[in-house]
Amino acid sequence: MKGIYIHIPFCEQKCFYCDFNSFPSDDYTKKKYMEHLLKEIELNKQMLFNFEGFRNQKKVLDDEKIESIFIGGGTPSIIDEAYITELMNVLKEAFGEYFADDIEITMESNPGTLTYEKLLAYKKAGINRLSIGLQSCVDDELSSLGRIHNYDDFEKNYFLARKAGFDNINIDLMFAIPGQTLDSLNYSLDKVIGLNPEHISAYSLIIEDKTPFGMMYEKGDLKEIDEEIYVKMYRNVVDKLYKNGYRQYEISNYAKKGKMCRHNLMYWRGGDYMAIGLGSSGLINEVRYSNAQSLDKYFSMIDEGKLPIDYRENLSKEDIINEKIILSLRTNMGLDAKELKDVTEFDILLDRKNELENLSSNGYIEIDGDNIRLTQRGREISNSIYVELMVDFDKGSS
Ligand SMILES: C[S@@+](CC[C@H](N)C(=O)[O-])C[C@H]1O[C@@H](n2cnc3c(N)ncnc32)[C@H](O)[C@@H]1O
Ligand code: SF4
Repeated sequence: MKGIYIHIPFCEQKCFYCDFNSFPSDDYTKKKYMEHLLKEIELNKQMLFNFEGFRNQKKVLDDEKIESIFIGGGTPSIIDEAYITELMNVLKEAFGEYFADDIEITMESNPGTLTYEKLLAYKKAGINRLSIGLQSCVDDELSSLGRIHNYDDFEKNYFLARKAGFDNINIDLMFAIPGQTLDSLNYSLDKVIGLNPEHISAYSLIIEDKTPFGMMYEKGDLKEIDEEIYVKMYRNVVDKLYKNGYRQYEISNYAKKGKMCRHNLMYWRGGDYMAIGLGSSGLINEVRYSNAQSLDKYFSMIDEGKLPIDYRENLSKEDIINEKIILSLRTNMGLDAKELKDVTEFDILLDRKNELENLSSNGYIEIDGDNIRLTQRGREISNSIYVELMVDFDKGSS
C-alpha cells in the first residue's frame, strides 16, 4: 500500500462553492469524532486485510512501504492540536513499521485557524508538509467566496509556519472566481510567488450543485466566467508559474523541483491507499471503497466494532483501463502505453491508433514511443480527449 488518507470534516463555516463533506460543528461532536477516528485506525489494523470484501488477499502492507499520509478535510487545523498529536501517535503505533523512511505527511489548513503553538505541535507530531487554502489575495474575492479570513490572516499564518520549521508548503489558489479579472488573478499569483512556497495548486472554480453558488447559478444570479477569459486565465497561470520555477505536473498542480505532492502522485498512478474518516474513499487491491457519509452511520458502525465502509466495488477491467488513462493523462508524465498493456492487456497504441493520430496531428497530444502526453492545448479540452480514448466493452469500442 502506498498511502493513507484521513478525513477531518469540520470547518468554521461553509464556503459558498464547496461541496466537500465538511461542516461546522460543536466541541462535543469533534471530540466524539476524533475518538471514533482512532478506533477506526485500530479496526483497520485488525480487520482490513482479512476483510472479505477485498479480493486478492495479498498482504498489502508487506509489499510496499507507506510513502504518504494526507490529513485532509474539511479543515484539520480547526480542531485542538492535541487531537492531531494523538492521531499521529495512534497511526505510528498501528502502521509505523510500514512507514517509508522519508514518508511525506501532509495536513490541510485554513488561514485564520493556525497559531504558532499549533504549528509547533504539528511539526513535533511528524507532519512535514503543510497545505494552506488561500484561494485569492484580494479580500473582496475572499469574502465573495464565503472565506473566513482575509489576505493578512493568511500571510501571518504563512510566516508562522516557516518560523515553526515547515520547509514544504503548498498554497491553494483559485481562478475563474466570479468577478475576478486577469489583472486581479495576476496580482494574486505575483503575491503568492513572492512568498516562494514549494508547491502551488491552482484550481478553476467549479460551480457545484446544491452549494450556495450552485443555487445562485440556477436562479441566474451567478454567471460562469466567459470561456475565452477562462482559457486566458489558465494559460496565464501556467506561464507565470513556469517562468517562476514552478513546473506543472498535473492540470491544477505546480511544484518546484522535487516537491511534487506524493499523495497526488500516488493517486494519479493508481496506487493503493487506505481511507480513514467520514465519507473518505480508498483503493486497495483493485477494490474501490468509501466510508459512511453521515456521522450517525459512521459512529454506529464503529460502535458495533465494524469498519464504517458502506460502499465497495470490485473494479472491472474496463474501469481499471479507463482510470489509468484518465489519471495518467492528467499528469505531465503522461500515460505509459506499455505499462497499460502489461497490466491490462489493452494496447492503446493499436486499439486507438486512428484517434491518437488525429489528436496528435491536431496538436492535442504528443506521442513519444510508448509515452502519450497531453499538450497545453490538449489540457484545455482534456475531458473530450479522455472520452475518445476510453473503452466501453459493452458497446464494443475495443
Ligand atoms: C478541502 S479544501 C481544504 C483546505 C481548507 N479547508 C481551505 O479551504 O482552506 C481543498 C481545496 O479545494 C479547493 N476547492 C474546493 N471546492 C472547490 C470548487 N468548487 N472549485 C474549485 N476548487 C475547489 C480549494 O482551493 C480548497 O483550498
Ligand atoms: S474551508 Fe475548505 S473544506 Fe471547508 S467549506 Fe471552505 S473550501 Fe470547503
